Amino acid sequence: MSFVTYETEGAVGIITISREKALNALNSQVLDDIKAAFDAVDLNTVRCLILTGAGDKSFVAGADIGEMSTLTKAEGEAFGKKGNDVFLSIEKFPIPVIAAINGFALGGGNEIAMSCDIRLCSDNAVFGQPEVGLGITPGFGGTQRLARLVGAGVAKQLVYTARNIKAAEAYRIGLVNEVFSATVDEAGNVTATAQENLMAAAKKMAAGIAANAPIAVRASKKAINDGLQVSIDEGVAIEEKLFGSCFESEDQKEGMANFLRKKDDPAKVKHVAFKNA
Ligand code: CAA
Repeated sequence: MSFVTYETEGAVGIITISREKALNALNSQVLDDIKAAFDAVDLNTVRCLILTGAGDKSFVAGADIGEMSTLTKAEGEAFGKKGNDVFLSIEKFPIPVIAAINGFALGGGNEIAMSCDIRLCSDNAVFGQPEVGLGITPGFGGTQRLARLVGAGVAKQLVYTARNIKAAEAYRIGLVNEVFSATVDEAGNVTATAQENLMAAAKKMAAGIAANAPIAVRASKKAINDGLQVSIDEGVAIEEKLFGSCFESEDQKEGMANFLRKKDDPAKVKHVAFKNA
């Protein structure tokens, strides 16, 4: 049995961590299943991914505390490496990954969300790195990615205090890109839950990304990720190479030709069906 499900809608793939009884907590098996799900994505047909959690209460409530409770120092280090390897492969996955955070994103839950490219959440989402309250440090990249995302001062405050924050605060500090609430009609009836609106928005964003030129989207992801690791001089050199790599592609020729046709005659406006070539 796998703790992860995978489905596709057109060029969008949806990976769902599905261990609802334990609020989708990450044990070794779940980490293996996540890796296997990403490895199985058909990159010829899928152009953007959404990562979410099963149910409407929790995205991922962290690494599995039961499994960690008896680990030795060496086993703890190996468990950290196992999580870090999976999360690094998500961060470096060739196509964009949107985290649709539908509830608790604590410890390893916040850490897997931070390894995604974009974070959207429902208004019941709760974020935090509670590890020091459990006698450990964040161990799946939290000490590294949180500081890079929100700045060292805010990251240190969150990690040292182990304080959980709500969606609005996560938005204010730049941890999430957008927060979604329920839609209510004039009579006060809920017509769409926050989780439904979150998934609809994630799918719409993913479909929009998937409609853009795939070679250029992938190259943009690589340029941003690789550029964050180096000086600005090295970063712009990385960009130049990736920018150049898009030229002579069919999609570059057709994308630019389409713009020039539109300029000549607005009636010729059309959407380019990019071929990933
Ligand atoms: N590990 C293992 N099991 C977990 C879990 C976790 N991280 N989080 C929740 N669960 C389990 C609970 O044990 C419980 O199982 P049982 O029904 O068998 O008792 C079930 O999920 C439901 O949880 P609660 O009854 O606690 O639900 P709640 O609504 O009362 O509370 C919660 C929800 C606030 C998220 C609470 O479950 C909680 O605090 N969980 C732990 C969060 C946490 O500390 N995460 C960080 C883990 S450390 C880490 O991630 C290290 C790292 O960086 C790699």
